[in-house]
Amino acid sequence: MMMMRQSGSRVAGMAGLGSRLFSTSVIKGVHESSRIAKPSLLAKEVVDTFVRARPAVAVFRGARQYSSTVTLQGETEKEKNKEEEEKKVQNVNTAADSEKQKGNIVSYWGVPPSKAANKDGTDWKWTCFRPWETYQADLSIDLNKHHVPITFLDKLAYWTVKSLRWPTDLFFQRRYGCRAMMLETVAAVPGMVGGMLLHCKSLRRFEHSGGWIKALLEEAENERMHLMTFMEVANPRWYERALVFTVQGVFFNAYFLGYLISPKFAHRVVGYLEEEAIHSYTEFLKELDKGNIENVPAPAIAIDYWQLPAGSNLRDVVMVVRADEAHHRDVNHFASDIHYQGRELRESPAPVGYH
Ligand SMILES: [Fe+2]
Ligand SMILES: [Fe+2]
Repeated sequence: MMMMRQSGSRVAGMAGLGSRLFSTSVIKGVHESSRIAKPSLLAKEVVDTFVRARPAVAVFRGARQYSSTVTLQGETEKEKNKEEEEKKVQNVNTAADSEKQKGNIVSYWGVPPSKAANKDGTDWKWTCFRPWETYQADLSIDLNKHHVPITFLDKLAYWTVKSLRWPTDLFFQRRYGCRAMMLETVAAVPGMVGGMLLHCKSLRRFEHSGGWIKALLEEAENERMHLMTFMEVANPRWYERALVFTVQGVFFNAYFLGYLISPKFAHRVVGYLEEEAIHSYTEFLKELDKGNIENVPAPAIAIDYWQLPAGSNLRDVVMVVRADEAHHRDVNHFASDIHYQGRELRESPAPVGYH
């Protein structure tokens, strides 16, 4: 059989058709075109020799069953398709050129740019958050609530946070804008670490999280938005940026380990951190009221994120941020309390969207 194939190949090569004819589609084409064009006897013999030598009878039958009309139609359709493909490529290239001229990112994947609109129909200007993620802060929340530390772990959490306040006071003193911004770089870590660990736990144990992954990730996102806001009114110095690098490296890993060992301790620490944050923002407000810090107009990002009225100022922003911190305090002390009762977080529905 192999010899017959080889001899077929040689004869086909002699007829100027080449070894490529040994693909089924080409052979079909040649055989059919031989009917249309009435080829020379040699070519017909070559094809017949090859077809006889083919071991698969189905291919032979298939080749003979197609009429020349079908072939012509097929070829016309192929040409049409090719032209359409070329047109499509041309259109894509034209669109890409126009996007390039506008300075936009060009993508081959056809992912449409995500667009949102304001209530008045104008384009939403932020890509870092969307209209449905904005909210009005609940300013009526009790700012003075405090979890009295009774157990050893609670006392350890409380004094850990208190001891961190002294170097912070020493470093920033009364520069509350900068202090707020720097502390937000730390405050946005626990929610992400806790959410990530609960996510992994959910995967490992094949169980639901009770919404706690989402609630903690929401907290992290909310804290990051505090940072994005304070970035607009404070400019960190080079050594402050360096400090953020160092602190993040240490705090992320410490909190990660702490959460693995004792989530009830980790959430209690964050509860007390949030109590401290409320205190810091209260001091910030006092400095604003005394005129020691200029009450500048609220950054545009803050007006849109907290749905503040136009003409709001920095004081209004600090008020809503402080209210957020009070909500984080509640969520984290609550999470710690659940663990203290010997329960899993997933056993109590998470306060998703609690602002
Ligand atoms: Fe914050
Ligand atoms: Fe917070």
